[in-house]
Amino acid sequence: MIKRKRLLMHVGPVDIYDEVLYAGLKHNVGFSSEEFVQAFQFCLKETRKLFRVDNSYQPFIIPGSGTSAMESVTSFLGKDNKVLVASNGVFGDRWVNIFKRYPLKVDYLGSEVGDYVSVDKIEEKVRKEKYDLVTLTHVETSTGVRQPIEETVKRIRDYVDLIVVDGVSSVGAEEVRAKDWGVDIYLTASQKAIGAPPGLGILVASEKAMESIKGDSVAGYYLDLRNWLPVMRNMEDGKGSYFATPPVHTIFMLAQAFKLIQEEGLDNRIKRHEKVAKVIRAGIESMGLRLVAKRPESYSNTVTGVILNKVRAEEVLKEIVNEGVELAPGVHPALQGRYVRIGHMGWVTPNDAVVTISAVERTLRKLGEDINVGSGVRSAQAFILDG
Ligand SMILES: Cc1ncc(COP(=O)(O)O)c(C=O)c1O
Repeated sequence: MIKRKRLLMHVGPVDIYDEVLYAGLKHNVGFSSEEFVQAFQFCLKETRKLFRVDNSYQPFIIPGSGTSAMESVTSFLGKDNKVLVASNGVFGDRWVNIFKRYPLKVDYLGSEVGDYVSVDKIEEKVRKEKYDLVTLTHVETSTGVRQPIEETVKRIRDYVDLIVVDGVSSVGAEEVRAKDWGVDIYLTASQKAIGAPPGLGILVASEKAMESIKGDSVAGYYLDLRNWLPVMRNMEDGKGSYFATPPVHTIFMLAQAFKLIQEEGLDNRIKRHEKVAKVIRAGIESMGLRLVAKRPESYSNTVTGVILNKVRAEEVLKEIVNEGVELAPGVHPALQGRYVRIGHMGWVTPNDAVVTISAVERTLRKLGEDINVGSGVRSAQAFILDG
């Protein structure tokens, strides 16, 4: 009996290179040690590049996960501020759950399942009412749907104070241009397309956003970015600094992931993600299955939601592990049990995509789904060779 090797095609945490994991196996490194400060400094500088911003944006790397980065956005809000949540699914909705805990006024604009939020409707809403802050989700991980951020921001920029984009499932894999697009706060997490372990919320904030942080905010204590700001500034200056114990080992791993991103080049990384996503979709569609994302222009480079015809999602997820691949469950309540998600973020390759498609074919055939076995793999191969 041999131990099964498993390909993790999940939505996060994703497959992580050993050299990234090993970078965290450090001992005797305090949070003010030269080694650690250098790693932190490097991560802050690379964070700016990742979001394509210059020194006018302040980067933050804070403990927690994507949700901690989301909740830290309360640092930019004062009592009774008015917020619009434009949500394309489960993670967009999370903003409401966060903001409801604070003395804020929250409006909500949703989308149909599998679609993004209508840009016309967002524009109409912000023209009618003045909002202090609007949230958008770049790639909605529950469905794999991508919001056209550049276009959306262009249409609403003049009417709202601050625009926040959740890029947890996009940064490092999709085109992201925080400054050029006029996004004030763009956030992500370590465990997705950056390809590091979970444990860090990562964001950049514009000058305008940093101005608004000066007054009183509704933020709690731990996620008040005013407490983290001196740490970020000192670390970037190469000086040790403390507000609360940083996850030292995870920062070393993040630094290693950033080194590998640097070696690959961000543009190449985005292109690789795009190619892998196309190979996956070519395979899934020619098998005769439908995608959750309705419009081709909203297909993402990072997550593909696959609707099952007959079999239940739980059975597929259980069985496909025996075929050597792990996928992610569907989490959108409207499609519960009827779809699975293929995550393709981090260090994925077209070869991983073909392996995944072949495992999906075998699994579905075993479970009695009516699919064309072999045609998915054939289309995936053809796409890799001929585009
Ligand atoms: C788009 C999006 N936003 C926010 C989150 C929350 O991040 P975390 O689970 O790291 O707290 C996730 C997690 O998957 C996500 O996909």
